[in-house]
Amino acid sequence: MSTAKIILDGKEIELPVVTGSEGERAIDISRLRELTGYVTLDPGYGNTGSCQSAVTFIDGDQGILRYRGYPIEDLAEKSTFLEVAHLLIYGELPDAKKKAAFEQEVTMHTLLHEDMKKFFEGYPSTAHPMAILGAMFASMSTFYPKKKDQDLDIIRILAKAPTIAAFSHKKSIGQPFIYPRNDLSYASNFLHMMFAVPAQKYEVSPAVHDALNLLLILHADHEQNCSTSTVRMVGSSNANIFASMAAGVSALWGPLHGGANQEVIEMLEGIQAAGGDARKAIAQAKDKNSGFKLMGFGHRVYKNFDPRARILKKAADRVLAELGVNDPLLEIAKHLEEAALSDPYFVERKLYPNVDFYSGIIYRAMGIPTEMFTVMFALGRMPGWIAQWKELRDDPKTRINRPRQIYTGAKERRL
Ligand code: ACO
Repeated sequence: MSTAKIILDGKEIELPVVTGSEGERAIDISRLRELTGYVTLDPGYGNTGSCQSAVTFIDGDQGILRYRGYPIEDLAEKSTFLEVAHLLIYGELPDAKKKAAFEQEVTMHTLLHEDMKKFFEGYPSTAHPMAILGAMFASMSTFYPKKKDQDLDIIRILAKAPTIAAFSHKKSIGQPFIYPRNDLSYASNFLHMMFAVPAQKYEVSPAVHDALNLLLILHADHEQNCSTSTVRMVGSSNANIFASMAAGVSALWGPLHGGANQEVIEMLEGIQAAGGDARKAIAQAKDKNSGFKLMGFGHRVYKNFDPRARILKKAADRVLAELGVNDPLLEIAKHLEEAALSDPYFVERKLYPNVDFYSGIIYRAMGIPTEMFTVMFALGRMPGWIAQWKELRDDPKTRINRPRQIYTGAKERRL
């Protein structure tokens, strides 16, 4: 086993080096304080591995993303979202029998308890659907309080998330809730609950279905990002799965994370309203005093390209063509990307479009309102949050997550 030597206050200590299955290396500092009295300081956790995980691998320099070893490109082309969910949560793609059983189980739990419907009545119609999603997840723990039901609770939250999301949309537009249908796939059922209206025929368009399946897969996991780390943090205190998922929703909502997809469209609309000149936005993003960032650009881990954004850029052209949608925002987005990628500010800082840059344009073409974009991200991220939560909970070595700090406040004083 290789080790790292650290000299502190003239004393040398050796710490173990841990190597991952893809050759990633880390210095295990878990005994550092005990041995030396020192802790490490890493605000924003840019250099801190918070756990060992077998779920997702990312190589940010090479633009690689794999779920349980499978490249995202292959899964995006060949799988359904529920197959990917099974892969992430249970470790393997399901065979035909397991797939049918898993789909059946999820389908049978899509209904919300009728009493949960009453919660929706209390919200203003302007309520952001992310607030509703988080509150509903937390509320589920009141309907399903038994600790021993972990496996069933995983199915419940995966199954009911699209129903909650679609109901929050229906609430915002004042239409009656559309109940789930057991004869539809996960993606089709969500679209049905979102867009069907009583007494009118609604057929799910195959192009919209396929686009949704793709988007959900691309968002399904992303190792220790802000919301997933939050889910693990909350889960580490043995909080129940519903509370842990609600925490993930809150973390995802922020515009620096999943909330960026809504902000991208609002930014593109702003550029369009101001005459469509992408260069002004670029100049503003470079000016640190402006407080403006190019939304959908930059990533903590990807420093070459985001493989999800590459897939989505191609998909945006295809989906819009299939749906016969001509969205000027797509052209503005492409010009903006081109201008940014040839600008030294963005090149030097290795800032590239991330998954949120093109996803909103596809959601728009599918008829999903802007306020729902981050909810769509959350629906996709559910299997990842669940898989990481389950991995943490199934590991007997899990300790409550409790970082240290360097105190910089007042020294002791007396009244
Ligand atoms: N526009 C302009 N400048 C940027 C941008 C941007 N979008 N992103 C980073 N920079 C600049 C920073 O100001 C900094 O410049 P400096 O070195 O002169 O100080 C440099 O690039 C490095 O950026 P950091 O903020 O240190 O990068 P960090 O890893 O902390 O943040 C983040 C990553 C949050 C994604 C950031 O790039 C950002 O805010 N992007 C816009 C929001 C966004 O799209 N979020 C979605 C991320 S993907 C996801 O969550 C699904």
